[in-house]
Amino acid sequence: MLSWPRQDTTSCSLKTSMCDCSTLGSRLEIACLFHADVPALESDHETRLDTMSDPWLSIPLADYEGHMGADNVQQLSALSGLFKRALDVCLPDSVAILGIAGGNGLEHANPATIKRIVGLDINPGYLDEVRRRFVTHPNLELHCVDLSHEKLRVAPVALVHAALFFEHAGLGRALDNALSLVTRGGTLSVVLQLPGRDQQNVTTTSYPSMQTLARNFSLVDVPRFRALLEKQGFRLLNEELRPMPTGKMLWLGIFSASPLGPE
Ligand SMILES: C[S@@+](CC[C@H](N)C(=O)[O-])C[C@H]1O[C@@H](n2cnc3c(N)ncnc32)[C@H](O)[C@@H]1O
Repeated sequence: MLSWPRQDTTSCSLKTSMCDCSTLGSRLEIACLFHADVPALESDHETRLDTMSDPWLSIPLADYEGHMGADNVQQLSALSGLFKRALDVCLPDSVAILGIAGGNGLEHANPATIKRIVGLDINPGYLDEVRRRFVTHPNLELHCVDLSHEKLRVAPVALVHAALFFEHAGLGRALDNALSLVTRGGTLSVVLQLPGRDQQNVTTTSYPSMQTLARNFSLVDVPRFRALLEKQGFRLLNEELRPMPTGKMLWLGIFSASPLGPE
């Protein structure tokens, strides 16, 4: 059994603890970063403000996956396919997935050729489930971290993949963390939701818990996102549009980091 530290509401220091998952055969270290209090924040209005009440901490994985697989959403398989596409284009020897949820698409990451597979999420229960589902991936490294608020200290990888992540986590600290995780000359692949006809960002399904996400959800403007990345030395290599049967449209952009940039 994985044991996760509880959030300490009395202290305002950053807690780091390593959990030893010895029951899983190979030693798995899961770094759990928790903030007990919201720290002094940057003035950047896009940095998410409410760490302690992040709605993702209250959404059961079954609700998330049920919602994303519902007939009027149908995004789980599309996201899995876009992750596979990013792997096929980039052929990385190490990969990180920001907002990994239950590990959708992880079956496409071949542990025989990808030597490090890193999953990050704010919800520790999701990571427990990823570990349970992917015992086939001995080189899986899972980090429970609030990427909107904590500064990530994880060794960089060749491909960072973030699918429908920045809409929830914002473009402040979360984007800095994403870029810092890309190794020199590596790639960042991003899936963004484009504005739909009905303008409903979180579709109504039989999972009402999902509606709590609406208050922290903002569409990300693709040209603005590209411009932000270009300023940071990331060049767009490849882009694709994936229309959903529901009328929504997903955009996949693959960016390469400068080979001369920081590692
Ligand atoms: C829409 S889901 C991502 C989709 C997922 N990649 C897939 O293919 O199904 C967003 C994920 O990001 C995680 N998340 C949201 N805000 C986060 C944050 N600030 N830090 C880390 N993870 C976050 C959520 O817990 C959730 O698992």
